[in-house]
Amino acid sequence: MPMTTPADLSFAPRPMRPEWPEDLPRHWYRGEAFATHYLNALSLMFPHGEKFFIDSVRAYRDRNTDPRLDEEIRAFIGQEGWHRSVHAGFNAWLERLGLPAEALEARAGRKIEYVKKHVHPRGWLAATVCLEHFTAILAKDLLSRPRDIERMHPHFRRIWTWHAMEELEHKAVAFDLFEKTGGRYWTRVKAMLFVSFDFAVETARNVIALLRADGELWKPRVWWQGFRFLFGRDPGVFWKTLGPWLAFFRRDFHPWQADDRALIREADARLAASS
Ligand SMILES: [Fe+2]
Ligand SMILES: [Fe+2]
Repeated sequence: MPMTTPADLSFAPRPMRPEWPEDLPRHWYRGEAFATHYLNALSLMFPHGEKFFIDSVRAYRDRNTDPRLDEEIRAFIGQEGWHRSVHAGFNAWLERLGLPAEALEARAGRKIEYVKKHVHPRGWLAATVCLEHFTAILAKDLLSRPRDIERMHPHFRRIWTWHAMEELEHKAVAFDLFEKTGGRYWTRVKAMLFVSFDFAVETARNVIALLRADGELWKPRVWWQGFRFLFGRDPGVFWKTLGPWLAFFRRDFHPWQADDRALIREADARLAASS
């Protein structure tokens, strides 16, 4: 069980420029409104969120003396930059479907501006550590269910496989920077409690807003789909992510205690085969 980032890990941005043709299906994941809007809701948080991650890491980059971590920070900034740009296109496509993507994205942006104004950069970095753990958990959950990913329209399967794989590759960058620049255990624990609550509320608000705009909110079938998606046996996202979430509270936690290198290699091979 590695306690630090593996020495043989190296990663770099993989540029991606998807087109957004008019004939993409509206409910592109499992053919279901709930699962689709769950991932749409995450996409709406990415352009501003990932900019915040980049800014948080940049604020502490000068204090790092480890050249290898500096290389990883460079790759992290590159990857998150590409994710932002792809999800900006994704969200523009949602807006063209008649969904309130711009408004929801702008709300996320205002909230982040508020945090940046009122919270010390150490808090930004702690929040980034927590949110990177979230994205790594969700990425692992998604990539661990290849049969379920097969139920995504190929256009979206490619984007989410790409993003999830890169999230796993750079999952420890913010954590390592936080630790090496004197970040404390209780700072990250407090940040995790706050961020978890906020993330759950914001995701739920976005999903509800999207379902409402899509005319799907009051359909019992959609709520059943949602229940099964989050709490059922397959995929049961909530249950599958609970253990990794709790692991963060251990004093000796490190993101690479979960060795995801095989999962990354498999995803990379699937992505290469699909291009
Ligand atoms: Fe990302
Ligand atoms: Fe990330």
